[in-house]
Amino acid sequence: MEIFDRRLILVVGKGGVGRTTVATAIAAECARRGRKTLLFQTNAADRVGRFYDQGPIGTEVVGLAPNLSAVNTNPAAAIAEYGLMILRFRTVYEMVFENRVTKTFLRAIPGLDDYALLGKAWFHTTETHRGKQVWDTIVFDMPASGHSVSMLRVPKVIVDTVPEGPLTRDARSVAQLLADPDRTAAVLVTLAEEMPVNEAIELEAKLGELGIVPQQIIVNQIYPEHFPPGSPVARVLETITPATTAPLAALAAHGTLSRDRRMLNAHYLLELRRRTKIKVAELPILFASVFGRAQIEQLAAMLPKL
Ligand SMILES: Nc1ncnc2c1ncn2[C@@H]1O[C@H](COP(=O)(O)OP(=O)(O)OP(=O)(O)O)[C@@H](O)[C@H]1O
Ligand SMILES: [Mg+2]
Repeated sequence: MEIFDRRLILVVGKGGVGRTTVATAIAAECARRGRKTLLFQTNAADRVGRFYDQGPIGTEVVGLAPNLSAVNTNPAAAIAEYGLMILRFRTVYEMVFENRVTKTFLRAIPGLDDYALLGKAWFHTTETHRGKQVWDTIVFDMPASGHSVSMLRVPKVIVDTVPEGPLTRDARSVAQLLADPDRTAAVLVTLAEEMPVNEAIELEAKLGELGIVPQQIIVNQIYPEHFPPGSPVARVLETITPATTAPLAALAAHGTLSRDRRMLNAHYLLELRRRTKIKVAELPILFASVFGRAQIEQLAAMLPKL
């Protein structure tokens, strides 16, 4: 079964490695395949609206392209919406969320904000309209490494600590969805550099403790191989490198930079493949003055098929 066929795709990784970019590319690919796709974000600052020539995406679902919509929620909105949507009736909502005993329990759960965000994502996986399923796939652009692990841990904490009731019933459903590889896939994004590789391995281990094994690692921003070792062009670079006068010196310096950057990527790709059993795929670094829909679709077309 391909990643794109899952109901929920969790995109995880260290801060700044390209989670939002890759999550958007995955969502674009799901949509291109005809799946009704929701890109689910919890980012303070939205970048995705700009990719699609729109204003920042907020807490309302907006359409971006055929089959592709996005939403960018926050804990306060999610708690209110999730509480109302999941519990369906205001009276039940008030019984659960306004109940003095429950409130005390809720305050005692450190991850309630995170749970509300996760619960809202889960809600969208179950959302129906006139008896028809609204979304085929939810792509969750998750918070950075450690935060996403603590977020993914909350459902089990609730099941283990909160007395049986609507909250535990839903938390159990969320925990089951997360642990079900037929419905949920995790994609781990990283860079082929020292710290990101170390963090990716650590994140893989922490997710494993929660029973979540990423289906795929995507190494983002790989430099192009313009000077393959031993190739004629690499020999030209070596020949002109001792040049000290412009324009050859500048060309040589630029070529050396590009070659060394690629060698660094190659080294850490090897290291990553040595340290993990998960499939590793690469996405290139794109040099665009403005990163937009064209770049997203270019990356989407290069996503690994599995
Ligand atoms: N393949 C790529 N080629 C070129 N630039 C890229 C690529 N992927 C991401 N970027 C750039 O890297 C920066 C970080 O990307 P992005 O916002 O997707 O990362 P993130 O992991 O979501 O970051 P944050 O932790 O802040 O949420 C952005 O400026 C983005 O345009
Ligand atoms: Mg992001």
